[in-house]
Amino acid sequence: MAKHTVVTMPGDGIGNQVLPEAIRVLDAVGFEANYVHADIGWECWRNEGNALPKRTIELLRQHKVGLFGAITSKPKKETEADLIPALKGKGLQYFSPIVSMRQIFNLDICMRPCLSFPGNPLNFIRKRPEGGYEEPKVDVVVFRQNTEGLYAGVEWTNPPQLVRDALATHSKFKPFSSVPGVDLAISVRIITRPAAQRICEAAFRHARTFGYKSVTICEKPNVLRETSGMMEEVAKEVQKQYSEIALWSTNIDAQTMWLTKNPEDYGVIVASNLFGDVISDAFAGLVGGLGFAASGNIGEEVAVFEPTHGSAPKYAELKPPIVNPIAMILSAAMMLDHLGETEKATKVRSAIAAVVAEGKVRSYDMMRIPGGAKSIAQGAASTTQITDAILSKLGVGAEKEYAGSCRS
Ligand code: NAI
Ligand code: MG
Repeated sequence: MAKHTVVTMPGDGIGNQVLPEAIRVLDAVGFEANYVHADIGWECWRNEGNALPKRTIELLRQHKVGLFGAITSKPKKETEADLIPALKGKGLQYFSPIVSMRQIFNLDICMRPCLSFPGNPLNFIRKRPEGGYEEPKVDVVVFRQNTEGLYAGVEWTNPPQLVRDALATHSKFKPFSSVPGVDLAISVRIITRPAAQRICEAAFRHARTFGYKSVTICEKPNVLRETSGMMEEVAKEVQKQYSEIALWSTNIDAQTMWLTKNPEDYGVIVASNLFGDVISDAFAGLVGGLGFAASGNIGEEVAVFEPTHGSAPKYAELKPPIVNPIAMILSAAMMLDHLGETEKATKVRSAIAAVVAEGKVRSYDMMRIPGGAKSIAQGAASTTQITDAILSKLGVGAEKEYAGSCRS
């Protein structure tokens, strides 16, 4: 009998192209698993009025670990228009299935490793004052609180009178008190101490396990005194149990500026939801961008691993597919780590590192050419050819471990 059961949710667009590639790699590395397909995404919304059907939730509840491709979501006005006629006018409301999934299973820890693979032409390089260039090694792991903050979903346009009355008790609301409801949009930023504690503890635990020297709390406590203030306060408290690891504090705005100045100085970064979203994308940009950006959404019971990219609809119909499967494959490697299969995870990353270092097989994004039907003719490898190259390195590159952490 297979050891693990993994719920696979390819979702929409290129999710359907990259997820099968990850499974090819998992098979090749000897990961013993059953894969159970689950529906998610825009097609579910269109046909069922729910982008995250109950049956998918049940499968995740049962099997506890999922691999997710990507979903499409569209602006508010198009959600109703896209419904099948039988579902129109029923007041159905669209919720992002990935956000819902995080909330339903309290997948409160989002982990996003940003690790540079030597030889990747997309890696950040820096000009030396004396001339020439250097390529700093980036090995940053962002821990983003995944369920609260500005993404908690407590928001209104035209807030009810009760809300307005409550806000009016705060002196800073005065300038807004006469704004007509239809012109007033409010999103609430919620931070709770237990969730702040869990994300900070996860960050420090990771730093200790994998030998990072610092944890940086990246917030804005000088302005967001209550919410960012609480995050920083909790980080300081947690650090007391980790005396060998330094706690640095940066402001999100300054951090986005410093990240190109000295990215190699940072190790683990911890942040609330929106700031973690921003800073992890920013660091991902230094190590190859969306084609390389993997992530894990980890709760106490359930964990779901996914590339950071979306469904890239403009490439979804191309035959052969051209998108880079590496972000998805790295996400699968994070899943292996999560399941205790760290040796296999290291093999996968080493194989990717070998392909990137060799530089013979590159997807269009790695070649810095426009994506499209012509990319292959211009020398880009197809999605499956990238995987083929990784498969060919499995075993070969295994004795030479890639010195990166990149694990959950
Ligand atoms: P996107 O990530 O789908 O694509 C943006 C661009 O990045 C693409 O056009 C392509 O140039 C590049 N790209 C993305 N993945 C790539 C890969 N694996 N290899 C090479 N290049 C890649 O973001 P976009 O266009 O903003 O959104 C498209 C749809 O995806 C929207 O409906 C959006 O809501 C959804 N989305 C879903 C996410 C998820 O499922 N977690 C995350 C982000 C967007
Ligand atoms: Mg994002």
